[in-house]
Amino acid sequence: MAGWERKQTDTDKGIVIPDNWPGYPLDLFTFPEHYSEDLDCVYIPHGVIMDRTERLARNIMEDLGDHDIVVLCVLKGGYQFCADLVDCIKVLCRNSNKTLPMRVDFIRLKSYLNDQSTPDLHIEGAENLSGLSGKNVLIVEAIVDTGKTMKTLLDHVEAFRPKMIKVAGLLVKRVPSGTGYLPDYVGFEISNRFVVGYALDYNEYFRDLNHICVISDRGKQKYKI
Ligand code: HPA
Ligand code: MG
Repeated sequence: MAGWERKQTDTDKGIVIPDNWPGYPLDLFTFPEHYSEDLDCVYIPHGVIMDRTERLARNIMEDLGDHDIVVLCVLKGGYQFCADLVDCIKVLCRNSNKTLPMRVDFIRLKSYLNDQSTPDLHIEGAENLSGLSGKNVLIVEAIVDTGKTMKTLLDHVEAFRPKMIKVAGLLVKRVPSGTGYLPDYVGFEISNRFVVGYALDYNEYFRDLNHICVISDRGKQKYKI
């Protein structure tokens, strides 16, 4: 695909979408009519997200297969990615002689207002993580930008003494203030734009959009708090 960079030798960052990627015109896809004024482009189509997730599931199976894991889904943004990733792992377990027994748990983080991150990070559902002790934990997060939230979360989860922690991040954003933190499994590396859809929100809107899209200025105005 023109403009998409794919390094054969370095897959750590997943599919690298360059800064000059304009996205696809909205007219080429379907999306809810109520968002027709609120989006600039389709940045990553739903089908591509699913295809990439299928491969991440395979990589996870190859690394962790035959271990028990606890999948820790980071809400709310991570719910769709987590559900699809778990589904893909289930399919692989049915169709191979490897197996990956999974428990699924949830944690909720909130640090964004409008399109800005706020310094106070709230972690909910973190009180009862004692079940993670001695377990292999796979944290599933939709988006990593500065890496600070993930650092805080990792410190928090480590305190419960799991045997191992791996992180799957669907998106990693190239931000100037980034810590350079990279999840163990990365779907896509994206430019520093505010994206919505596939459970990623702007003030709770756009979770009901399948594709990952770039929000328009008008959309930001309309749903601003
Ligand atoms: N979209 C939605 N939520 C986010 C983003 C984003 O681009 N970055 C951090 N949280
Ligand atoms: Mg959010």
